Amino acid sequence: MLFILTRTQATFLPLLTLFVCLTRADLISDLKSHGFQVLAPADLGYASAIIPYNERFMFKPAAVTFPRNTQDVSTIVKISGRYNVTVTARSGGHSYIANGLDGKVVVDLASFKKFSVDPRTKIATLGPGIRLGDLILQLNAVGRAMPHGLCPYVALGGHAGHGGYGHTSRQWGLTLDVIESLEVVLADGKIVTASKSSHPDLFWALRGASSSFGIVTSMKVKTFPVPPTVTNMQYAWDMSTDEATSAVLDWQAFSLASTTPANIGAYLVLMRGSAKGRVALSFMGGYFGPNRNFDKIVQPLFKNYPSGGLRNATAMSYVDAAFLFGQMGTLNTTVIPEASNTLYAKSLMTPQETPMTREAVGSLIEYLGDVGFTADFIWAIEIEQYGGVTSQINKVPLDATAFGRRNALFTLQFLTAPSANVPPFPPEGFTFLDGMTNAILDNMPKDWDYGAYMNYPDDRLKDWQRRYYGSHYPRLQNLKAFYDPKDLFKFPLSIELPN
Ligand SMILES: Cc1cc2nc3c(=O)[nH]c(=O)nc-3n(C[C@H](O)[C@H](O)[C@H](O)COP(=O)(O)OP(=O)(O)OC[C@H]3O[C@@H](n4cnc5c(N)ncnc54)[C@H](O)[C@@H]3O)c2cc1C
Ligand SMILES: *[C@@H]1O[C@H](CO)[C@@H](O)[C@H](O)[C@H]1NC(C)=O
Ligand SMILES: *[C@@H]1O[C@H](CO)[C@@H](O)[C@H](O)[C@H]1NC(C)=O
Ligand SMILES: *[C@@H]1O[C@H](CO)[C@@H](O)[C@H](O)[C@H]1NC(C)=O
Repeated sequence: MLFILTRTQATFLPLLTLFVCLTRADLISDLKSHGFQVLAPADLGYASAIIPYNERFMFKPAAVTFPRNTQDVSTIVKISGRYNVTVTARSGGHSYIANGLDGKVVVDLASFKKFSVDPRTKIATLGPGIRLGDLILQLNAVGRAMPHGLCPYVALGGHAGHGGYGHTSRQWGLTLDVIESLEVVLADGKIVTASKSSHPDLFWALRGASSSFGIVTSMKVKTFPVPPTVTNMQYAWDMSTDEATSAVLDWQAFSLASTTPANIGAYLVLMRGSAKGRVALSFMGGYFGPNRNFDKIVQPLFKNYPSGGLRNATAMSYVDAAFLFGQMGTLNTTVIPEASNTLYAKSLMTPQETPMTREAVGSLIEYLGDVGFTADFIWAIEIEQYGGVTSQINKVPLDATAFGRRNALFTLQFLTAPSANVPPFPPEGFTFLDGMTNAILDNMPKDWDYGAYMNYPDDRLKDWQRRYYGSHYPRLQNLKAFYDPKDLFKFPLSIELPN
C-alpha cells in the first residue's frame, strides 16, 4: 500500500488521521441529533445491544442506531459517510461472523417489520426486520407461503440478501428468487427502488450480495398458496461407518434422480455416534404433495438403510410442519427469547455434474466415526438437498441474479462448538472442522469447482471470492465501484473494489 502512495496523498495522510480521531465524538453527537435512538459505548444499553448470535465474536461498534424509517437510515448512512466510518445493516443479527461489527455504525432494522399482502396480486411487501417464524404465521393467516429457511429467529434482511434456503426451495426457489423489487439506501444516502425495470444492475447485485451494496429497507416478494398438506419426515439411525457411507451415497443418488419431484425438501444430518466407529444419522424434511403418493416416492431412498431406528412420516398442516422444522418450540419469536451460540461453521456446495465420490464420502465418515467420536466438541454436518433435475433453485439461469452457484446438488454445512458452547472458542475447533472438509476435498479432483454459501459466511475461507460469488465476482466488483466507491459497506467477505 505504502509504495503506491503518491506524494500528495502521503502529505495528506497525518492530517487525515488527525481528522478522523478528532471527530469520533462528533459522529456520535451528530447521529444523536436526529430523533432516533443511538447507543454509543458510554451509553446504558450498549452492552446488550452488541451481543452477537455467535459469541465467538465480541466486537465493539462505534454506535448502534435504531432508525424508525427509511429516511432515518439515509441520514445515518450520510453521516457515517461524512465521518468515513463503515456502516453495517443488522436485521436479525444471525450472521455467523457477527457482520464484522468492529468500529462500525450498526443500522439495526428490528423495527422494520411492515407486512402486507396485496389481495389481488398476492405480492407481499415485507420489512427486512421480520423474523422467519413470524413471517410464516402472518402469511399463513392469509393462506400464503414463500420459500425461506427453517430457523424462526433468522430475519429476512440478511437471509433474502444472500440466498434463503429451506424445504420448499426445490419447488419455489431461494428467498431471493421470489423478490420482485427492493427499496434500498445507497452509500450516498439516496433512497432508490431496484427492480427489473429500475436500476436492473443494482437489482441483480442485491439478490446475492446485498450487504455489499446498500441497506434494504423494504421488499416486494411473490407468494404461493399454502400447500394443503405436508408429510413431515423425521428419521434417525445409529450406523456403522460402512452403513453411513452407503446411506449418504443413497441420499446423493436419490437427490440426483429424475423421479425425485421438486416438492420434496430435506436434509441428512450426521452427528456423533453411540460408539467409536459409528455415526448418528438423521433425516428431516417435508414432502409437500398428496400423502397417498408419499411411500412410492420417498421410501425407495431408505430401502438399503439399516432396519430399526426411528421412522416417522406424519401428514399435517403446513404451519404445523414449519413449527416442527424450526425445532425451537415456537414460530412466534416474541414469546421466547433465543439463546446465543459459540460456533464455527463452513459450507461446501457440491456441483451436480461432479457429485462426491465414494472415496470422499467414505473418508469423511471415517473421520466422523474416529476423530468425531473422541473430540471434545459439539458438531453436526447438514447435507442439504438443493439440486436434482427437478429443482427450481437450479432452473434459474446462473446470470439472472448475483447468487454464485446454480448447479449445486448439496450444500453441506459443517458446524462445531466447544462442548460448553460458551467463549472462548478454542483454536482446535478450527482444525477439527477443517479435518471434515479436507476429508472430502482430499478425495476429489484438484480443480473440483465446489462453492460455498454466503448465508453461512466463513471468515477463514481463503479463496472466498470464487467459492461464494463464482463467476459473478468481477461484475460485482465493477458495480461496487459504481454504487459504493468509498467502500462504506465493508466487512470481511464483502465485495472488494476493483484494483
Ligand atoms: C440458527 C440459524 C439457523 C439458520 N438456518 C438457515 C436456513 O435454514 N436456511 C438458510 O438459508 N440460512 C439459514 N441460516 C443462515 C441465515 O440465512 C443467515 O445467517 C442470514 O444472513 C441471517 O440474516 P439476519 O438478518 O438474521 O442476520 P444479520 O446478521 O442481521 O445479517 C446478515 C448479513 O446480511 C446483512 N444484512 C442484514 N440486513 C440487511 C439489509 N436490510 N440490507 C442489506 N444487508 C443486510 C448484514 O450486514 C450481514 O452481513 C441460519 C442461521 C442461524 C444462526
Ligand atoms: C477512510 O478510511 C479508510 C480506511 O480507514 C482510509 O483508507 C481512507 O483513506 C479514508 N478516506 C477518507 C476520505 O478519509
Ligand atoms: C406473537 O405473540 C404476541 C403475543 O401473544 C402477539 O401479540 C403477536 O401478534 C404474535 N405474532 C404473530 C406473528 O402471530
Ligand atoms: C411422529 O411424529 C408426530 C408428529 O411430530 C408425533 O405426533 C408422533 O408422536 C410421532 N410418532 C412417533 C412414533 O414418534
